[in-house]
Amino acid sequence: MKNIYSKLCSAAFIAAIGILPISLAAQNTSNPIKGKISLFPDQAQTTISKDIYGHFAEHLGHCIYGGFWVGEKSPIPNTEGLRNDVIAALRDVSIPNLRWPGGCFADTYHWKDGIGPREKRPSIINTNWGGVTEDNSFGTHEFMRLTELLGCDAYINGNIGSGTVQEMSQWVEYLTSDNESPMTRLRKENGRDKPWKVKYWAVGNETWGCGGNMTPDYYGNLFRQFSTYLGNFNGNNLQKVASGASDADYDWTETMIKNPKTRWMMQDISLHYYTIMDNWSHKGSATQFDEKEWFTTLKKSLQIEKIIKGHSDIMDRYDPEKRVGLVVDEWGNWFDVEPGTNPGFLFQQNTLRDAMVAALNLNIFNNHADRIKMANLAQAINVLQSLILTKDEKMVLTPTYYVFKMFKVHQNAKLIPIQLNCENYTFDKESIPSISASASKDDAGKIHVTLANFNPNKDQEITCDLGSATLTQVKGEILTAKSMSAYNNFDKAEEVKPQAFKGATIKNNQLKITMPAKSIVAIELN
Ligand code: AHR
Repeated sequence: MKNIYSKLCSAAFIAAIGILPISLAAQNTSNPIKGKISLFPDQAQTTISKDIYGHFAEHLGHCIYGGFWVGEKSPIPNTEGLRNDVIAALRDVSIPNLRWPGGCFADTYHWKDGIGPREKRPSIINTNWGGVTEDNSFGTHEFMRLTELLGCDAYINGNIGSGTVQEMSQWVEYLTSDNESPMTRLRKENGRDKPWKVKYWAVGNETWGCGGNMTPDYYGNLFRQFSTYLGNFNGNNLQKVASGASDADYDWTETMIKNPKTRWMMQDISLHYYTIMDNWSHKGSATQFDEKEWFTTLKKSLQIEKIIKGHSDIMDRYDPEKRVGLVVDEWGNWFDVEPGTNPGFLFQQNTLRDAMVAALNLNIFNNHADRIKMANLAQAINVLQSLILTKDEKMVLTPTYYVFKMFKVHQNAKLIPIQLNCENYTFDKESIPSISASASKDDAGKIHVTLANFNPNKDQEITCDLGSATLTQVKGEILTAKSMSAYNNFDKAEEVKPQAFKGATIKNNQLKITMPAKSIVAIELN
């Protein structure tokens, strides 16, 4: 596919006057920014993998315990110990896959600790995350039941840092084999007769750091050794994910991918990129910020596109047919923990700024769907940039949650290449594009366009050229709020939630969109 996606963010275009509901009209309608998007629907070929909309659940803070798992005896409504409210909410965003049990926890996890009668499971120390006791009450059976209830694929992260080849190989056998063997017998003794299907398997996590502090050469050899013994039983076809780079560590990716045998043995290689505002010792508050921090967060987050291109270019040299997927299996905002909470639990609130970051990342992943086959936001519940927060029986859906809900229409749709021309958003002499966008066409022929207006002070008037598509109907949803730092919290009405969007009109096959300042819009065209 000819890649014509580009950002030429300086040109101004003919004004388009859309109809904006008064309640959502921004302050600056008198002086809106102008932009233009051209869609090329006849070039829609690449499928946006639904797995780009994946999630991540680590044994960290209250992601598993209190988040997904409350136990069968809990007064909180549950199915076999798994929270009903959380399951319903995640089904509603069509969660395609869930990664577990870590993160750094994965390379300390010994799966046999988490099977069999719960009262007999050993307690261990969660050395990475607060040194708290992990009683292993949530283990393999509970996780696989969770994926069944969510209707999603399992993405399991094996332990290469402190585990053995035999341990990892037996875990795969325990989960997926139906042959007569000690592992299948053990599974049956533990109450599960039929094997499960497991789609993705990571061979270690962050092996350059908490997963063993290895060099890429050393890890490459270990990856091949461990992978050799991960079997495909009963038609299960494990997609093996090699532990990949952090940020712009291109040497890691190149060392892994240039070796023909290592490349041949992997289906995917990972990339982790967190948006950290200043540095690890000052990450900033999730809720108390000004426009400078809003701008810096967006600017830092947008850097992921350059990093994806850097890794993709290397992969293209050795794998031009793009067989190996790049999976961004940890991404999102990482702020300081909320005051008074355990620093090891990584609990942060989630504002409209997080929604912007979610929207821009998902748009970027969509636009690079030729190489990005999966992505997993860190993390699903109560940790970092969460979709969901829980407090005892209460649950909050975050602004980030609503972005995943609005954008789910792109799952498995065909990516429509776009050309985006927009003005820059300038703050303190620095500039970023003011818009992020992506578009796709689904099986029913509907076209979806998702956009974010980063500018917190100015509306955007966007004209949209629909190319060869003949379309007459438009509808949409918008996510915005009164302030940049608005968030949803327990015991109060939601401040950030989608509403019907009336700011798009279609006439003579030309779409005109008026987007309020600091808003995210999803448009459906027929
Ligand atoms: O998501 C939190 C942690 O960030 C993960 O455990 C680790 O892989 C990464 O460094």
